[in-house]
Amino acid sequence: MANQTNTPDEIDERVVALLEQMTLEEKIGQMCQLGASEGYAPDYLADGLRSGRIGSVINVVDLHAVNELQRIAVEESRLGIPLLVGRDVIHGFKTVMPIPLGQAASWNPEIVREGARIAALEAATTGVNWTFAPMIDISRDARWGRIAESFGECVLLTSELAVAMIEGFQGDDLCEPGAIAATAKHFAGYGAVESGRDYATTNIPETKLRNVYLRPFKAAVDAGVSTLMTSFSDLNGIPATANEFLLRQVLRDEWNFGGVVVSDWDSIRQLHVHGLTENDKESAYQAITAGVDMEMAGDAYSKHLAELLDEGRIDIAAIDAAVSSILRTKFKLGLFENAFTDPSRLPPVASKQGLEIARQAALQSVVMLKNDHHVLPLSAEKLGSVAVIGPLADAPYQQLGTWIFDGDVELSITPMHAIHSLVGHDLDVRYLRAMENSRSKASESFDEAVEIAQSSDVTVLFLGEESILSGEAHSRADINLPGDQAELVRRVRETGKPVIAVILAGRPLTLTNIVDQVDAILFAWHPGSMGGPAIADLLFGLESPSGKLPATFPRMVGQIPIYYSQKNSGKPASWDNITHIDHIDTRAPQTSLGMSAFHLDAGFTPLFAFGHGLSYADFDYQHIRVDSYEIELGASVTISAELTNRGDVAADEVAQLYVRDLVASVTRPVKELKAFRRVRLEPGESVTLDFVLHTDDLSFFGRDMRRTVEPGEFHAWVGGSSDTQLRTEFRIIQSA
Ligand code: NOJ
Repeated sequence: MANQTNTPDEIDERVVALLEQMTLEEKIGQMCQLGASEGYAPDYLADGLRSGRIGSVINVVDLHAVNELQRIAVEESRLGIPLLVGRDVIHGFKTVMPIPLGQAASWNPEIVREGARIAALEAATTGVNWTFAPMIDISRDARWGRIAESFGECVLLTSELAVAMIEGFQGDDLCEPGAIAATAKHFAGYGAVESGRDYATTNIPETKLRNVYLRPFKAAVDAGVSTLMTSFSDLNGIPATANEFLLRQVLRDEWNFGGVVVSDWDSIRQLHVHGLTENDKESAYQAITAGVDMEMAGDAYSKHLAELLDEGRIDIAAIDAAVSSILRTKFKLGLFENAFTDPSRLPPVASKQGLEIARQAALQSVVMLKNDHHVLPLSAEKLGSVAVIGPLADAPYQQLGTWIFDGDVELSITPMHAIHSLVGHDLDVRYLRAMENSRSKASESFDEAVEIAQSSDVTVLFLGEESILSGEAHSRADINLPGDQAELVRRVRETGKPVIAVILAGRPLTLTNIVDQVDAILFAWHPGSMGGPAIADLLFGLESPSGKLPATFPRMVGQIPIYYSQKNSGKPASWDNITHIDHIDTRAPQTSLGMSAFHLDAGFTPLFAFGHGLSYADFDYQHIRVDSYEIELGASVTISAELTNRGDVAADEVAQLYVRDLVASVTRPVKELKAFRRVRLEPGESVTLDFVLHTDDLSFFGRDMRRTVEPGEFHAWVGGSSDTQLRTEFRIIQSA
């Protein structure tokens, strides 16, 4: 039954009425989330629910257990308050979409929304009504394992995809069957952990925090996200879970967020481990004071809030505010009308439609990094044989990626199987795993790999990282292909036959040591359940690659952090003011050469730029222009360019608009993505791309930490990558 009384005012009245009836113990109970890894409504949960000491459970995904827990909460507790049932539904439930970083490579909010919708519908069949996604930490460090869960490095791309994912999870109305509450996490700054080491410290100046890290969260709040999760890390010396600046000043006071702030797993008690508090009681004090409404999987709140109140250190108003936001979310979800799950009211899990969305998402997420001499697409008619070699060609679990607690590996179709079914009757497909896993250092099978490659017309190598190498607590300091994979590439290359690399990974990798050893590279991330069919269709040209990089690919790990929206510096590097370490003339040292921002051994450019991604079509951008050179503050400018498909296949292209504010009171990035659009063009077709920017879109937080737009000169570029050179100019002027 849909909730009939769901207006915000009515919900507020019901919250107030309920709050008045609650004992302190019941209020604190609402602020506690407990985990259960197994068991049918374990006794400690059942008892806790009866006495009103639990407001939410995490990780119970058995339908009968969830319904039983809801029954106890609703029928056997004094006030009958239903439960929030939380689960990490990150990129799919049974049907697995590409990892979020892969979804970001689609640059397609629609496919992200649809993927989240499917995930919500599937998760809801087990009684889950709250997911801990999307993760919208700006991620500019590929060493960080959690970059896999993010939408990458760019503020705009992350913000737009965050909104799409939230809309997908939450639907039009949270109380519709199959809608689940979303969580924007991790608030805030987690992506900046030092050296990409998970949970490490973060230090972010306020201008950067506001101009970069907070912006996706603001977009999420504006889109109506139900909850936010604090980050494990500390920010400028104050752990996020106790950070009043973040949780009170910014989130509540400036943004008016009325939803739930949940801690991360036990992150309240970890305030002591951070060295911020002496004990759990002080941790509880700091967290409630900062504005954490619910404690995930800890007992600092249940043990100490009452005592803190007794001592007068906290006010009941703080507890009431936290409980109100939790109850409000429960009302919005319609749980008071019906807390029980009847899966027959929801579409079937692993539906054809869901799998098709997973296939589309995988298709659009694959990025073709290089394609020398148009070696791709392969032609099943012209080839007699293809060698399929590598540890990730037939690894159904690995292709799903990180965070797939509930993912159904039986649904995975691997590239090897998909290639067989697509072209198996037309040509000879020879498969060899060659390495036990991506980390293997045993090369016994390499001779056989070479033999197979030698006797085949083309070799497709499936390389990369298994899922366990990225995700939470899985950071790497070396982001080359692990194990002996580079050696496998080298050996296969020696055959002189064409070599294609398809790379499945949870992060950008440094591919410098293999990039020249292969003719083409498809970077497929961890593509999810339908990764195989998507990759096969791309390899054999049934579809054209259309993914674009959501994160910069460094040449060497030492370049990190490297991202397109860097600052210019006072000494920007260019091709004519750098020198390479190998070219330093030691007999006559040129001390004045290279006085610019570059590395002697890596230069100043990435291996592949943000936004890069090739196609089987040939896209040509021309005739960039603005509708007016001078734009008054408060008005809009239209930047246009012609995009033509000069190739002979129809394909999607993601057109990108970048802007630079040339002079400002705080230094601004050399390029910032301001708009993007996925368009499909037939061979020979042209389209005029019109991008409308309001001067507010060019605002930033200045020295006084206020959002401002400063008059002055701007450059704008349109193209298929952040390194586009197709540029125009405009000027913002004071309004008359
Ligand atoms: C810890 C992770 O940091 C967070 O992202 C996740 O949602 C929680 N654990 C719950 O599993």
